[in-house]
Amino acid sequence: MMWRVYLVVLNCLVPSIVAHVCLNTTQYSPCSSNIACGCLILAGATNDGICSYLYTACSESNACAPDNRTCLEPDHTCVQHPRCGNKPLCFPTSMSTQAFCPPMSSTTIDPSLPHDGICAQTKWKRDGIIVATDVDGSDSNEVRPSAIFVDENDAIYIADHANKRIVKWEAGATKGQVVAGGHGDGNANDQFTDVRSIVVDKNGTMFICDRGNRRVQRWLKSANQASTVLDDILCFGLALDNEGSLYISDGAHDRVIKWPSNETVAGGHSVGFDLNQLNDPRQIFVDRHKSVYVVDGYNYRIVKWPVGAQEGIVVAGGNGEGVGKSQLSYPNGVVADDSGTVYVLDYGNDRVTRWFPNAPSGILILGRPGFNDPDDTSVIYRSIDMTMDRHGNLYVVDIMNERTLKFLVDKSACIQSN
Ligand SMILES: *[C@@H]1O[C@H](CO)[C@@H](O)[C@H](O)[C@H]1NC(C)=O
Ligand SMILES: *[C@@H]1O[C@H](CO)[C@@H](O)[C@H](O)[C@H]1NC(C)=O
Ligand SMILES: *[C@@H]1O[C@H](CO)[C@@H](O)[C@H](O)[C@H]1NC(C)=O
Ligand SMILES: *[C@@H]1O[C@H](CO)[C@@H](O)[C@H](O)[C@H]1NC(C)=O
Repeated sequence: MMWRVYLVVLNCLVPSIVAHVCLNTTQYSPCSSNIACGCLILAGATNDGICSYLYTACSESNACAPDNRTCLEPDHTCVQHPRCGNKPLCFPTSMSTQAFCPPMSSTTIDPSLPHDGICAQTKWKRDGIIVATDVDGSDSNEVRPSAIFVDENDAIYIADHANKRIVKWEAGATKGQVVAGGHGDGNANDQFTDVRSIVVDKNGTMFICDRGNRRVQRWLKSANQASTVLDDILCFGLALDNEGSLYISDGAHDRVIKWPSNETVAGGHSVGFDLNQLNDPRQIFVDRHKSVYVVDGYNYRIVKWPVGAQEGIVVAGGNGEGVGKSQLSYPNGVVADDSGTVYVLDYGNDRVTRWFPNAPSGILILGRPGFNDPDDTSVIYRSIDMTMDRHGNLYVVDIMNERTLKFLVDKSACIQSN
């Protein structure tokens, strides 16, 4: 009853405070200087909605009239709210006022706009560009990629499974240079067996997950061999944080450790499905707050472990193996943008999906699940590594088609902050 009285008073005294609309948007995308607000898509609409305060209890809202999507209660709007279930809900209009959700200003710096400039409306080109194919001064020009890294100067590093080497392409270069390996398959310090991940620090030092030899190698710039920093480890993914610490996923112990301290930063409670456990961790990503995002392979989910966390937060998947929008199938790669939106390389479904914070499902952004044509660059087929450069372009290692695809980012729909 108090609630109704409040609404009436609000409506009588401040009639000018009205909901503002979200156009051309996606569910829950940011729309206000209040970060607790987001767009709720109107029932029956696909990309138009209202900007609302989101954190009301689901139980406070009733379902809309099923046949005509209207609300019998006054001052309610019928919206889609998947976090509260599949049925459209009558959401109180008072939660959409500009008092609760002031509009974002486009003239001042928008605090919710991440510094990578990626926003909810960002898109990626459907067709990829094949990159990193030619190698200079080498016996073999064949490149069969198995892992990728792109540095801050846009140089591309590829682990070439065919020739057991790492090749570097400077930004814009058509020919790459061999920077490590190239001496065949083996476990000598200038050889590799099965490279699954590479990262390169600001000094050009490469860290290489040589999974086949169960070791992590450090290869200094211009050196002719590596030294082993960790052995007896079934590494898969590597990541560096902004202080130069290295993070390694270890499938033998279902954990992620940080080197050189060797502390466990995710998992480490034996194999399992509980939130403090992992089951075959694969690629990893570390954000600028040092939160660790882990591809938790056989749990078909991506988990985020903030610094000091005792358990992970599921940020994608976790609904069993499958093709559904809320599911993943043998995920292999993950990156996150500065707003915490997660991008998942879904090996079994041959797609990359984008998961907004707290979203129950992902949105397909790359790939054409169920279709393969090696001449079609919109297709990824059994892909095992993915990275995002500082601009937001995505690179996918497409192993069955033996190529590396770059998908250009398009941020033109984002609000300009200056
Ligand atoms: C919505 O998107 C379409 C196509 O991308 C564009 O033509 C139109 O101008 C957009 N409308 C608004 C209000 O941004
Ligand atoms: C919508 O449907 C409900 C019953 O489901 C009905 O009571 C109501 O009058 C309808 N509203 C409109 C505007 O048709
Ligand atoms: C790069 O080299 C400098 C000088 O040797 C050293 O102080 C620094 O720690 C190195 N940075 C990284 C990330 O290893
Ligand atoms: C971490 O592990 C490596 C390899 O086992 C070892 O050389 C190093 O000393 C360890 N670091 C610490 C801080 O214990």
